Amino acid sequence: MRIASFVYCISTAAALSTIPVVTKKPSRFLLLGGAGRIGTAAASHLLLRDPSSQIILVGRSNDGSRAVEEVRMDHPNATVSYEQVADIWEGEGPSVDRLKSLMRESDCIIHTAGPYLHRKPTPMKLAIESRCQVYVDVSDPLPYLETACLMNHTSVTTTCLLSAGAFPGMSNVMAMEAASYLGGESVHDVRFQYFTAGLGGSGPLNLYITNLGFGEPMVQYDGGQLRFFTALSGSLLGKVNFFLNNASRSIGTSGFGNEQARQRVGSQPVFAWPFPEAATVATELRARGGSTAAMGTAPGIWNTVLAILVKLIPRPWWRNETFSKFLADFSEPMVWATDKILRASDPAGVGETHAMRVDVSGRRGPHISIVQAHDSFRQCVGQSCAEFALDCLRYPAVGVELPERRYRDPIAH
Ligand SMILES: *[C@@H]1O[C@H](CO)[C@@H](O)[C@H](O)[C@H]1NC(C)=O
Ligand SMILES: *[C@@H]1O[C@H](CO)[C@@H](O)[C@H](O)[C@H]1NC(C)=O
Ligand SMILES: *[C@@H]1O[C@H](CO)[C@@H](O)[C@H](O)[C@H]1NC(C)=O
Ligand SMILES: *[C@@H]1O[C@H](CO)[C@@H](O)[C@H](O)[C@H]1NC(C)=O
Repeated sequence: MRIASFVYCISTAAALSTIPVVTKKPSRFLLLGGAGRIGTAAASHLLLRDPSSQIILVGRSNDGSRAVEEVRMDHPNATVSYEQVADIWEGEGPSVDRLKSLMRESDCIIHTAGPYLHRKPTPMKLAIESRCQVYVDVSDPLPYLETACLMNHTSVTTTCLLSAGAFPGMSNVMAMEAASYLGGESVHDVRFQYFTAGLGGSGPLNLYITNLGFGEPMVQYDGGQLRFFTALSGSLLGKVNFFLNNASRSIGTSGFGNEQARQRVGSQPVFAWPFPEAATVATELRARGGSTAAMGTAPGIWNTVLAILVKLIPRPWWRNETFSKFLADFSEPMVWATDKILRASDPAGVGETHAMRVDVSGRRGPHISIVQAHDSFRQCVGQSCAEFALDCLRYPAVGVELPERRYRDPIAH
C-alpha cells in the first residue's frame, strides 16, 4: 500500500501579505452579510491582497458602523462603507431595487449571509441580471445548489461559484488535489472531516445552521451509488486524527504545521452532518465506493449533547427554522461561556481553531490524506471566499459552477 500525505497550514495574515496582488485596477466588492463575522473577515482579506479595493458591506441592521470600524482597524485608509438592505432573499420589493442598483455598480458579489436552507438563489439571480463579473457564495444545502445550477443558461455573463468557503469550498479543492495524486487510479472512497472549536467565532449563526442540518438527510455514496440516509445526520461516527501520523510519506509542503495540528487539535470525535461535498465531489470523482462528511466541535461535551438531542428530538423539528433558531439562541449563553474558556486555554488566544482532513482512496489501496488547520474558523472562511472571488475575477469562466468542477484540473489556475 502506498501512503502519501501532506499538510497545509495557512496560519497568519502576515504570511499572506507576501502573496502578490492579483487585480490590476481596483475592484468594487459588494459583501452580502458584510456586517457579519465572516463578512468582515472576507473584507479584511480583500484589503490585505489589494489595499485599493473598494468595499461595500451590506447588512440588515440600520447601523453598520461597528463592522466598518472592525475592517478599518487593520486597514485605516480603506475605502469601506455600509449599506442597509432589509432582506436580500426577497424576490421583489424595495430591497430588490436597492440591491440591484448596488450590484450594477459592483464587479464582484460575495454572499456570506446564511443560512441558505429553504432559500432560493435570489441574490445570485440578481447578480446575473445586473451583469456583475463575479458572484461567489458559501452556500451548503444540496437543494439550494441544485436550484442554482439550473440557472446555468448560456446567456449568463457572470462567473458564479457556489459553496466557495472553507468547507464546503477549499475542502472540495483539497479532495480534487488528493485525487490527482492517485495517478490515474479510479477513486474508491472520499471522506471529509471537519473540526471547529466552539462556534469558530462566527456567532450563534453557526449553531443555528448546524441545528437545521440535523433535519436534513445525509446524501452520500454507498457502494458506488448516491443514496439518502434520513436518520444519519448527527450520529457520532468515531474519532478522527486531524494530523498525519509519522509513518506517512509526505509530499508537497512536507508536513508543514503537522505538529501544531497534532498538539492543537489532535484526535476529535465527529458526527455525520449533511455537507453537500459528500455528494457533489464524490460524483465529480466518480467514487466507486463510499463517501462521508462529518464534523466535530470542542469542548467534547457539545458533541455528546448534540448527539443526545438528535436522538430525542424528531427530525421534522430540526427542519423548523423557528425551533432551530430558538435552540441556538437558547444555547447562546453556554456557547458564549465555552468560547471564553476556549479563548483562555488557546495558546493563540483566539479559541476559534478549526481543522479539516480530507481522505481519498484509490480502488487498489493508495490512500491520500490532506490536513489543513487555522487559528480562526471565521478568518479561514473569509479568506477562502475572498481568494475564490479574486481567482474568479482573474480567470473568468462564465456560468454557474461548483469548486470541484472549476478546479478539476490540478494544473490550471
Ligand atoms: C493612511 O493615510 C495617512 C495620511 O494620508 C498616512 O500618513 C498613513 O501612512 C496611511 N496609513 C496606511 C496604513 O497606509
Ligand atoms: C512524530 O514526529 C514528531 C516530530 O518529528 C515527534 O515529536 C513525535 O514524538 C513523533 N510521534 C510519534 C508517535 O512517534
Ligand atoms: C415551526 O414551529 C412553530 C412553533 O411551534 C410553528 O408555529 C410553525 O408553524 C412551524 N413552522 C413550520 C414551517 O412547520
Ligand atoms: C455551466 O455552463 C458552463 C458553460 O456552458 C459549463 O462549463 C459548466 O460546466 C456548467 N456548470 C454546471 C454546474 O453544469
